[in-house]
Amino acid sequence: MSFLDQIELKRVPEHVAIIMDGNGRWAAMRGNDRTFGHEHGVEAVRASIKAASKIGVKYLTLYAFSTENWNRPKFEIDALMTLLVHVIKAETDELNRNNVRLKIIGDRNSLPRRVIKETDKMVEKLSQNTGLTVVMALSYSSHWEIINAVKCIANDVKKGKINPEDISRERFHSYLSTAEIPDPELMIRTSGEKRLSNFLLWQLAYSELYFTPKLWPDFTEEDFFEIIFEFQQRERRFGKTSEQIKNLI
Ligand code: FPP
Repeated sequence: MSFLDQIELKRVPEHVAIIMDGNGRWAAMRGNDRTFGHEHGVEAVRASIKAASKIGVKYLTLYAFSTENWNRPKFEIDALMTLLVHVIKAETDELNRNNVRLKIIGDRNSLPRRVIKETDKMVEKLSQNTGLTVVMALSYSSHWEIINAVKCIANDVKKGKINPEDISRERFHSYLSTAEIPDPELMIRTSGEKRLSNFLLWQLAYSELYFTPKLWPDFTEEDFFEIIFEFQQRERRFGKTSEQIKNLI
């Protein structure tokens, strides 16, 4: 029986975030260069978008490129940017047919012009859709995002738009790139690494974390369903006791 049949559709997380890791190792195991792994990673991106849509996830955030990834060899960066533009162009119609919206988060100014142009076009074309929103983190890191938010808040304080006393958790959240999106209930990282790598540090404060040894290009729809099923077996306490959560106290 597929894990899909065991998922309680009423308790599906609204927002799932994924660190897609292991493309390089997947390629090396096959005697190929890292780019080969990224190309095969696209199939796993498709599979997770399909799986998330199927069970009614509202937001799927994919860590596609971090601000630290700019330190990789130029050849790999160029190949990744070319792949991104290619995938964006090739997939727009299919995403549109599936009622998917797209949002990009990250340091836009550091992206090559062609990536900005194509992502803007795609975001616009899919903007009327009402199904799953794919949030692509591109040239993103939490440190960049939090520093950016602090700068904007400092500016607004300077202009007299807000008082320092008014800076609350909610107000801070409204300055993040995920301002209008609920925090992820679940974060998945592939490839066996167990760290957050500067990904959504604020937003993941109370998220369930799931680490799978599978390398990203091997990740399938069924893997996604299995993780959602496992998530539904967990008890989320948000600092409370188990008894409080079960309404015993
Ligand atoms: C991490 O694997 C993966 C990346 C840095 C890039 C992810 C990109 C894709 C899956 C391709 C296309 C994406 C979209 C959204 C269209 P790694 O290179 O760090 O692997 P390693 O840890 O084995 O070296």
